[in-house]
Amino acid sequence: MKLLVVGGGGREHAIIKKLKENPSVKTIYALPGNGGIAADAVCIPEIGAKDIPAIVEFAKANAIDFAVVAPDDPLALGCVDRLHEAGIPCFGPDAKAARIEASKVFSKNLMKKYGIPTASYEVFNDPAKAMEYLQSASFPIVIKADGLALGKGVLIPQDLDEAKAAVKSIMEDKAFGDSGNEIVIEEFLTGPEVSVLAFTDGTAIRPMVSSMDHKRAGDGDTGLNTGGMGTIAPNPCYTAEVAQVCMDTIFLPTLAAMRSEGCPFKGCLYFGLMITPNGPKVIEYNCRFGDPETQVVLPLLKTDLLTVMQAVENETLSELEVEWSDGAAACVILASGGYPSAYEKGKVMTLPETTPENVVIYHAGDKLAGGLLLTSGGRVLGVTATAPTLAEALKDAYAAAETVEFEGKYMRHDIGQRALAAMEV
Ligand code: AMP
Ligand code: GLY
Repeated sequence: MKLLVVGGGGREHAIIKKLKENPSVKTIYALPGNGGIAADAVCIPEIGAKDIPAIVEFAKANAIDFAVVAPDDPLALGCVDRLHEAGIPCFGPDAKAARIEASKVFSKNLMKKYGIPTASYEVFNDPAKAMEYLQSASFPIVIKADGLALGKGVLIPQDLDEAKAAVKSIMEDKAFGDSGNEIVIEEFLTGPEVSVLAFTDGTAIRPMVSSMDHKRAGDGDTGLNTGGMGTIAPNPCYTAEVAQVCMDTIFLPTLAAMRSEGCPFKGCLYFGLMITPNGPKVIEYNCRFGDPETQVVLPLLKTDLLTVMQAVENETLSELEVEWSDGAAACVILASGGYPSAYEKGKVMTLPETTPENVVIYHAGDKLAGGLLLTSGGRVLGVTATAPTLAEALKDAYAAAETVEFEGKYMRHDIGQRALAAMEV
Protein backbone atom coordinates (compact mmCIF):
# COMPACT_ATOMS: atom_id res chain seq x y z
CA MET A 1 0.00 0.00 0.00
CA LYS A 2 1.02 3.58 -0.60
CA LEU A 3 0.20 5.99 2.22
CA LEU A 4 0.36 9.74 2.51
CA VAL A 5 0.73 11.67 5.77
CA VAL A 6 0.09 15.41 5.78
CA GLY A 7 2.30 17.30 8.26
CA GLY A 8 5.91 17.53 9.30
CA GLY A 9 6.40 17.49 13.06
CA GLY A 10 7.07 15.04 15.89
CA ARG A 11 3.46 13.91 15.91
CA GLU A 12 3.61 13.00 12.22
CA HIS A 13 6.91 11.16 12.78
CA ALA A 14 5.26 9.07 15.52
CA ILE A 15 2.29 8.30 13.24
CA ILE A 16 4.59 7.33 10.36
CA LYS A 17 6.77 5.05 12.49
CA LYS A 18 3.67 3.26 13.74
CA LEU A 19 2.10 2.93 10.26
CA LYS A 20 5.35 1.38 9.02
CA GLU A 21 4.86 -1.57 11.36
CA ASN A 22 2.15 -2.88 9.01
CA PRO A 23 3.86 -5.24 6.50
CA SER A 24 1.48 -4.29 3.66
CA VAL A 25 2.71 -0.67 3.79
CA LYS A 26 5.29 -0.28 1.02
CA THR A 27 5.74 3.50 0.78
CA ILE A 28 4.79 6.44 2.97
CA TYR A 29 4.95 9.97 1.61
CA ALA A 30 5.18 12.85 4.09
CA LEU A 31 3.98 16.27 2.91
CA PRO A 32 6.13 18.15 3.75
CA GLY A 33 7.88 15.88 6.32
CA ASN A 34 11.21 17.00 7.80
CA GLY A 35 14.90 16.09 7.98
CA GLY A 36 14.50 13.22 10.42
CA ILE A 37 11.25 11.90 8.96
CA ALA A 38 13.20 11.43 5.71
CA ALA A 39 14.73 8.29 7.28
CA ASP A 40 11.25 6.73 7.55
CA ALA A 41 9.26 8.21 4.67
CA VAL A 42 9.62 9.91 1.30
CA CYS A 43 9.41 13.61 2.18
CA ILE A 44 8.07 16.21 -0.24
CA PRO A 45 9.33 19.50 1.24
CA GLU A 46 7.84 21.52 -1.65
CA ILE A 47 4.26 20.69 -0.62
CA GLY A 48 3.26 22.43 2.60
CA ALA A 49 0.58 21.03 4.91
CA LYS A 50 -1.84 23.85 4.01
CA ASP A 51 -1.48 23.55 0.23
CA ILE A 52 -4.65 21.51 -0.25
CA PRO A 53 -4.79 21.58 -4.10
CA ALA A 54 -1.17 20.35 -4.31
CA ILE A 55 -1.82 17.64 -1.70
CA VAL A 56 -4.85 16.35 -3.63
CA GLU A 57 -2.97 16.45 -6.95
CA PHE A 58 -0.07 14.56 -5.39
CA ALA A 59 -2.40 11.92 -3.93
CA LYS A 60 -4.09 11.37 -7.30
CA ALA A 61 -0.85 11.32 -9.31
CA ASN A 62 0.73 8.79 -6.95
CA ALA A 63 -2.31 6.51 -6.58
CA ILE A 64 -2.36 6.88 -2.79
CA ASP A 65 -4.35 4.11 -1.07
CA PHE A 66 -4.86 5.87 2.25
CA ALA A 67 -4.11 9.36 3.57
CA VAL A 68 -3.74 10.67 7.12
CA VAL A 69 -4.24 14.40 7.68
CA ALA A 70 -2.62 15.19 11.04
CA PRO A 71 -2.45 18.99 11.67
CA ASP A 72 -5.38 21.27 12.54
CA ASP A 73 -4.98 23.81 9.72
CA PRO A 74 -5.48 21.47 6.74
CA LEU A 75 -8.34 19.72 8.58
CA ALA A 76 -10.09 23.06 9.18
CA LEU A 77 -9.42 24.04 5.54
CA GLY A 78 -11.20 20.93 4.24
CA CYS A 79 -8.26 18.73 3.20
CA VAL A 80 -10.23 15.56 4.06
CA ASP A 81 -13.29 16.80 2.14
CA ARG A 82 -11.17 17.42 -0.97
CA LEU A 83 -9.35 14.06 -0.71
CA HIS A 84 -12.67 12.26 -0.36
CA GLU A 85 -14.02 14.08 -3.42
CA ALA A 86 -11.00 12.75 -5.29
CA GLY A 87 -11.90 9.22 -4.15
CA ILE A 88 -9.03 8.84 -1.69
CA PRO A 89 -9.82 7.13 1.63
CA CYS A 90 -8.43 9.06 4.56
CA PHE A 91 -8.25 9.51 8.31
CA GLY A 92 -9.37 12.80 9.82
CA PRO A 93 -12.53 14.86 10.29
CA ASP A 94 -14.08 16.91 7.50
CA ALA A 95 -14.08 20.71 7.77
CA LYS A 96 -17.53 20.84 9.39
CA ALA A 97 -16.48 18.45 12.15
CA ALA A 98 -13.08 20.15 12.55
CA ARG A 99 -14.94 23.24 13.83
CA ILE A 100 -14.95 21.49 17.21
CA GLU A 101 -11.36 22.80 17.46
CA ALA A 102 -11.28 25.55 14.85
CA SER A 103 -14.01 27.59 16.56
CA LYS A 104 -14.12 27.88 20.35
CA VAL A 105 -17.51 29.57 20.03
CA PHE A 106 -18.84 26.52 18.14
CA SER A 107 -17.46 24.07 20.73
CA LYS A 108 -18.62 26.08 23.77
CA ASN A 109 -22.13 26.46 22.31
CA LEU A 110 -22.19 22.74 21.49
CA MET A 111 -21.32 21.84 25.09
CA LYS A 112 -23.92 24.24 26.50
CA LYS A 113 -26.67 22.97 24.16
CA TYR A 114 -26.02 19.30 24.96
CA GLY A 115 -25.20 19.64 28.68
CA ILE A 116 -21.55 18.56 28.41
CA PRO A 117 -19.61 19.74 31.49
CA THR A 118 -17.33 22.71 30.78
CA ALA A 119 -16.44 26.10 32.28
CA SER A 120 -19.33 28.61 32.19
CA TYR A 121 -18.74 31.34 29.62
CA GLU A 122 -19.91 34.32 27.56
CA VAL A 123 -19.13 35.09 23.90
CA PHE A 124 -18.29 38.62 22.70
CA ASN A 125 -17.70 40.16 19.27
CA ASP A 126 -17.65 43.74 20.56
CA PRO A 127 -14.64 44.76 22.68
CA ALA A 128 -16.68 47.43 24.53
CA LYS A 129 -19.23 44.82 25.66
CA ALA A 130 -16.40 42.50 26.76
CA MET A 131 -14.80 45.34 28.80
CA GLU A 132 -18.15 46.09 30.43
CA TYR A 133 -18.65 42.42 31.37
CA LEU A 134 -15.19 42.27 32.96
CA GLN A 135 -16.06 45.12 35.38
CA SER A 136 -18.15 42.74 37.49
CA ALA A 137 -16.19 39.51 36.83
CA SER A 138 -14.10 37.62 39.39
CA PHE A 139 -10.42 36.84 38.78
CA PRO A 140 -8.45 35.01 37.56
CA ILE A 141 -10.56 34.63 34.44
CA VAL A 142 -9.88 32.93 31.09
CA ILE A 143 -10.00 34.75 27.73
CA LYS A 144 -9.83 32.71 24.51
CA ALA A 145 -9.63 33.83 20.89
CA ASP A 146 -12.30 32.02 18.85
CA GLY A 147 -10.11 30.63 16.07
CA LEU A 148 -6.90 28.64 15.69
CA ALA A 149 -3.93 30.47 17.22
CA LEU A 150 -1.08 27.93 17.34
CA GLY A 151 -2.09 27.01 20.89
CA LYS A 152 -1.38 30.54 22.07
CA GLY A 153 -4.87 32.04 21.96
CA VAL A 154 -5.63 31.53 25.67
CA LEU A 155 -4.87 34.23 28.24
CA ILE A 156 -5.46 33.98 31.99
CA PRO A 157 -5.49 37.53 33.43
CA GLN A 158 -5.17 37.83 37.21
CA ASP A 159 -6.97 41.17 37.59
CA LEU A 160 -9.17 43.69 35.77
CA ASP A 161 -6.27 45.66 34.26
CA GLU A 162 -4.64 42.54 32.81
CA ALA A 163 -8.02 41.37 31.50
CA LYS A 164 -8.67 44.68 29.72
CA ALA A 165 -5.20 44.52 28.19
CA ALA A 166 -5.94 40.95 27.01
CA VAL A 167 -9.19 41.98 25.32
CA LYS A 168 -7.44 44.91 23.65
CA SER A 169 -4.58 42.72 22.43
CA ILE A 170 -6.85 39.99 21.00
CA MET A 171 -9.78 42.06 19.64
CA GLU A 172 -8.28 45.44 18.78
CA ASP A 173 -4.56 44.83 18.17
CA LYS A 174 -5.42 41.43 16.57
CA ALA A 175 -2.52 39.59 18.26
CA PHE A 176 -3.90 36.37 16.74
CA GLY A 177 -5.24 37.92 13.53
CA ASP A 178 -8.85 37.20 12.58
CA SER A 179 -8.90 34.35 15.13
CA GLY A 180 -9.66 37.12 17.64
CA ASN A 181 -12.74 38.62 15.93
CA GLU A 182 -14.79 36.83 18.56
CA ILE A 183 -13.69 35.85 22.06
CA VAL A 184 -14.89 33.53 24.78
CA ILE A 185 -14.56 34.72 28.38
CA GLU A 186 -14.85 31.80 30.76
CA GLU A 187 -14.70 30.70 34.35
CA PHE A 188 -11.27 29.72 35.71
CA LEU A 189 -11.27 26.04 36.67
CA THR A 190 -8.82 24.22 38.91
CA GLY A 191 -7.62 20.62 39.11
CA PRO A 192 -5.20 18.30 37.35
CA GLU A 193 -5.28 18.30 33.54
CA VAL A 194 -5.57 15.13 31.49
CA SER A 195 -5.36 14.66 27.72
CA VAL A 196 -7.44 11.84 26.27
CA LEU A 197 -7.12 11.16 22.55
CA ALA A 198 -9.76 8.87 21.12
CA PHE A 199 -10.34 7.07 17.85
CA THR A 200 -13.92 7.51 16.72
CA ASP A 201 -15.90 6.74 13.57
CA GLY A 202 -18.70 9.08 14.64
CA THR A 203 -20.54 6.51 16.74
CA ALA A 204 -18.09 4.02 18.27
CA ILE A 205 -15.22 5.33 20.35
CA ARG A 206 -11.92 3.79 21.46
CA PRO A 207 -10.16 6.10 23.92
CA MET A 208 -6.38 5.84 23.85
CA VAL A 209 -4.13 5.66 26.89
CA SER A 210 -4.46 8.95 28.82
CA SER A 211 -1.55 11.38 28.95
CA MET A 212 -0.24 14.56 30.57
CA ASP A 213 1.33 17.47 28.70
CA HIS A 214 3.76 20.02 30.19
CA LYS A 215 2.93 23.26 28.40
CA ARG A 216 5.06 25.85 30.16
CA ALA A 217 8.62 26.47 28.99
CA GLY A 218 10.29 26.29 32.41
CA ASP A 219 10.75 23.78 35.22
CA GLY A 220 8.02 23.89 37.87
CA ASP A 221 5.48 25.00 35.24
CA THR A 222 6.93 28.50 35.00
CA GLY A 223 7.53 30.72 31.96
CA LEU A 224 5.64 31.08 28.72
CA ASN A 225 3.16 28.63 27.23
CA THR A 226 4.66 26.42 24.51
CA GLY A 227 3.33 23.76 22.17
CA GLY A 228 4.34 21.24 24.86
CA MET A 229 7.75 20.49 26.44
CA GLY A 230 7.13 16.87 27.31
CA THR A 231 4.49 14.25 28.01
CA ILE A 232 3.90 11.11 30.02
CA ALA A 233 1.36 8.30 29.67
CA PRO A 234 -0.73 7.00 31.27
CA ASN A 235 -1.83 9.96 33.42
CA PRO A 236 -2.20 8.80 37.06
CA CYS A 237 -5.04 11.30 37.68
CA TYR A 238 -7.17 9.49 35.12
CA THR A 239 -8.42 6.60 37.22
CA ALA A 240 -10.82 3.92 35.95
CA GLU A 241 -13.61 5.70 37.84
CA VAL A 242 -12.83 9.08 36.22
CA ALA A 243 -12.61 7.35 32.83
CA GLN A 244 -16.12 5.95 33.24
CA VAL A 245 -17.53 9.36 34.21
CA CYS A 246 -15.82 10.89 31.16
CA MET A 247 -17.24 8.21 28.86
CA ASP A 248 -20.79 8.74 30.15
CA THR A 249 -20.87 12.53 30.58
CA ILE A 250 -18.38 13.76 27.96
CA PHE A 251 -17.21 11.34 25.27
CA LEU A 252 -20.46 9.68 24.16
CA PRO A 253 -22.53 12.89 24.56
CA THR A 254 -19.99 14.77 22.40
CA LEU A 255 -20.24 12.21 19.58
CA ALA A 256 -24.04 12.26 19.79
CA ALA A 257 -24.04 16.07 19.78
CA MET A 258 -21.89 16.18 16.64
CA ARG A 259 -24.19 13.72 14.91
CA SER A 260 -27.25 15.77 15.90
CA GLU A 261 -25.61 18.90 14.50
CA GLY A 262 -25.14 17.13 11.17
CA CYS A 263 -21.34 16.89 11.46
CA PRO A 264 -20.40 13.47 12.82
CA PHE A 265 -16.76 13.44 13.91
CA LYS A 266 -14.49 10.80 12.35
CA GLY A 267 -10.81 10.65 13.20
CA CYS A 268 -8.89 11.36 16.39
CA LEU A 269 -10.83 13.49 18.83
CA TYR A 270 -8.70 15.03 21.58
CA PHE A 271 -10.38 15.79 24.89
CA GLY A 272 -8.44 18.33 26.99
CA LEU A 273 -9.93 17.69 30.43
CA MET A 274 -9.64 19.17 33.88
CA ILE A 275 -10.54 16.95 36.83
CA THR A 276 -12.20 19.64 38.96
CA PRO A 277 -13.60 19.20 42.50
CA ASN A 278 -17.00 19.03 40.74
CA GLY A 279 -15.96 16.29 38.33
CA PRO A 280 -14.25 16.18 34.92
CA LYS A 281 -14.87 19.15 32.61
CA VAL A 282 -13.79 19.90 29.04
CA ILE A 283 -11.12 22.61 28.72
CA GLU A 284 -10.83 22.21 24.97
CA TYR A 285 -11.38 19.83 22.10
CA ASN A 286 -8.82 19.28 19.37
CA CYS A 287 -9.79 17.69 16.07
CA ARG A 288 -6.51 15.78 15.78
CA PHE A 289 -3.75 13.91 17.58
CA GLY A 290 -1.99 16.06 20.20
CA ASP A 291 1.65 16.98 19.91
CA PRO A 292 3.62 15.77 21.95
CA GLU A 293 0.90 13.49 23.38
CA THR A 294 1.07 11.26 20.28
CA GLN A 295 4.75 10.62 20.98
CA VAL A 296 3.85 8.80 24.25
CA VAL A 297 0.46 7.33 23.29
CA LEU A 298 1.20 5.59 19.98
CA PRO A 299 4.28 3.71 21.27
CA LEU A 300 1.88 1.99 23.71
CA LEU A 301 -0.58 0.95 20.98
CA LYS A 302 -0.50 -2.80 20.38
CA THR A 303 -3.15 -3.01 17.62
CA ASP A 304 -2.03 -2.15 14.08
CA LEU A 305 -2.56 1.61 13.58
CA LEU A 306 -3.51 1.38 9.90
CA THR A 307 -6.19 -1.20 10.74
CA VAL A 308 -7.66 1.16 13.36
CA MET A 309 -7.58 4.12 10.97
CA GLN A 310 -9.27 2.10 8.22
CA ALA A 311 -11.98 1.00 10.69
CA VAL A 312 -12.60 4.68 11.48
CA GLU A 313 -12.85 5.55 7.78
CA ASN A 314 -15.12 2.54 7.05
CA GLU A 315 -17.23 3.16 10.18
CA THR A 316 -16.57 -0.34 11.51
CA LEU A 317 -14.75 0.64 14.70
CA SER A 318 -17.39 -1.04 16.88
CA GLU A 319 -16.13 -4.39 15.54
CA LEU A 320 -12.51 -3.75 16.49
CA GLU A 321 -10.76 -4.31 19.83
CA VAL A 322 -7.98 -1.75 20.28
CA GLU A 323 -5.29 -2.97 22.65
CA TRP A 324 -2.67 -1.09 24.70
CA SER A 325 0.52 -2.08 26.50
CA ASP A 326 0.42 -2.05 30.29
CA GLY A 327 3.60 -0.02 30.63
CA ALA A 328 4.35 3.69 30.66
CA ALA A 329 5.95 6.15 28.25
CA ALA A 330 7.73 9.47 28.69
CA CYS A 331 8.73 12.05 26.05
CA VAL A 332 11.21 14.84 26.67
CA ILE A 333 11.25 17.64 24.12
CA LEU A 334 14.60 19.09 23.06
CA ALA A 335 14.02 22.67 21.99
CA SER A 336 16.10 25.49 20.51
CA GLY A 337 17.38 27.88 23.19
CA GLY A 338 14.99 30.86 23.45
CA TYR A 339 11.84 28.96 22.37
CA PRO A 340 8.94 29.90 22.51
CA SER A 341 10.34 33.43 21.99
CA ALA A 342 13.01 34.15 19.37
CA TYR A 343 15.52 31.36 18.73
CA GLU A 344 18.28 30.58 16.23
CA LYS A 345 17.98 27.97 13.51
CA GLY A 346 20.48 26.05 11.41
CA LYS A 347 22.45 24.44 14.26
CA VAL A 348 24.21 21.19 13.33
CA MET A 349 22.78 18.23 15.26
CA THR A 350 24.62 15.13 16.45
CA LEU A 351 22.49 12.10 17.23
CA PRO A 352 23.60 8.76 18.67
CA GLU A 353 24.18 6.06 16.03
CA THR A 354 21.93 3.67 17.93
CA THR A 355 19.46 4.04 20.75
CA PRO A 356 18.32 1.44 23.29
CA GLU A 357 15.45 -0.74 22.08
CA ASN A 358 12.92 1.06 24.29
CA VAL A 359 13.89 4.56 23.07
CA VAL A 360 12.73 6.39 19.93
CA ILE A 361 13.82 9.86 18.85
CA TYR A 362 11.03 11.67 16.98
CA HIS A 363 12.04 14.58 14.78
CA ALA A 364 9.90 17.70 15.06
CA GLY A 365 11.86 20.63 13.65
CA ASP A 366 14.89 19.82 11.54
CA LYS A 367 15.98 19.65 7.94
CA LEU A 368 18.62 17.93 5.85
CA ALA A 369 21.23 20.09 4.15
CA GLY A 370 24.35 18.71 2.50
CA GLY A 371 24.00 15.45 4.39
CA LEU A 372 23.78 17.22 7.76
CA LEU A 373 20.78 17.47 10.06
CA LEU A 374 20.17 21.11 11.00
CA THR A 375 17.70 22.53 13.53
CA SER A 376 14.85 24.37 11.83
CA GLY A 377 12.18 24.84 14.50
CA GLY A 378 11.53 25.69 18.13
CA ARG A 379 10.75 22.16 19.18
CA VAL A 380 13.45 20.08 17.52
CA LEU A 381 13.26 16.51 18.83
CA GLY A 382 11.08 14.41 21.12
CA VAL A 383 12.93 11.65 22.95
CA THR A 384 10.49 8.92 24.02
CA ALA A 385 11.15 5.88 26.19
CA THR A 386 8.72 3.12 27.08
CA ALA A 387 9.20 0.97 30.18
CA PRO A 388 7.21 -1.06 32.70
CA THR A 389 7.01 1.95 35.05
CA LEU A 390 6.91 5.73 34.57
CA ALA A 391 10.04 6.20 36.72
CA GLU A 392 12.04 3.89 34.42
CA ALA A 393 10.62 5.49 31.27
CA LEU A 394 11.67 8.94 32.53
CA LYS A 395 15.15 7.75 33.47
CA ASP A 396 15.70 6.22 30.02
CA ALA A 397 14.23 9.19 28.12
CA TYR A 398 16.46 11.65 30.00
CA ALA A 399 19.54 9.43 29.54
CA ALA A 400 18.93 9.32 25.77
CA ALA A 401 18.22 13.07 25.67
CA GLU A 402 21.75 13.64 27.00
CA THR A 403 23.25 11.80 24.03
CA VAL A 404 21.89 14.33 21.51
CA GLU A 405 23.89 17.49 20.86
CA PHE A 406 23.20 20.79 19.20
CA GLU A 407 24.12 24.34 20.16
CA GLY A 408 21.52 25.90 22.46
CA LYS A 409 19.76 22.58 23.23
CA TYR A 410 17.13 23.26 25.89
CA MET A 411 14.86 20.90 27.81
CA ARG A 412 12.82 20.84 30.97
CA HIS A 413 14.26 18.62 33.69
CA ASP A 414 11.06 17.90 35.58
CA ILE A 415 8.85 16.14 33.04
CA GLY A 416 6.73 13.55 34.85
CA GLN A 417 7.56 14.75 38.37
CA ARG A 418 3.99 15.89 39.05
CA ALA A 419 2.71 12.52 37.82
CA LEU A 420 5.16 10.62 40.04
CA ALA A 421 4.05 12.74 43.03
CA ALA A 422 0.38 12.06 42.22
CA MET A 423 1.12 8.31 42.22
CA GLU A 424 2.46 8.50 45.77
CA VAL A 425 -0.73 9.87 47.35
P1 AMP B 1 -5.98 25.53 25.54
O1 AMP B 1 -5.17 26.18 24.46
O2 AMP B 1 -7.46 25.68 25.38
O3 AMP B 1 -5.49 24.12 25.81
O4 AMP B 1 -5.62 26.27 26.88
C1 AMP B 1 -4.28 26.36 27.28
C2 AMP B 1 -4.19 26.14 28.75
O5 AMP B 1 -4.92 27.15 29.45
C3 AMP B 1 -4.84 24.82 29.23
O6 AMP B 1 -4.01 23.73 29.08
C4 AMP B 1 -5.15 25.15 30.66
O7 AMP B 1 -3.98 24.97 31.46
C5 AMP B 1 -5.47 26.62 30.64
N1 AMP B 1 -6.93 26.82 30.63
C6 AMP B 1 -7.74 26.89 29.55
N2 AMP B 1 -9.02 27.07 29.95
C7 AMP B 1 -9.02 27.11 31.28
C8 AMP B 1 -10.02 27.29 32.29
N3 AMP B 1 -11.31 27.48 31.98
N4 AMP B 1 -9.65 27.29 33.58
C9 AMP B 1 -8.34 27.13 33.93
N5 AMP B 1 -7.35 26.97 33.03
C10 AMP B 1 -7.66 26.96 31.73
N1 GLY C 1 -0.25 19.30 23.21
C1 GLY C 1 -1.40 20.07 23.00
C2 GLY C 1 -1.92 20.06 21.62
O1 GLY C 1 -1.54 19.27 20.79
O2 GLY C 1 -2.76 20.90 21.33
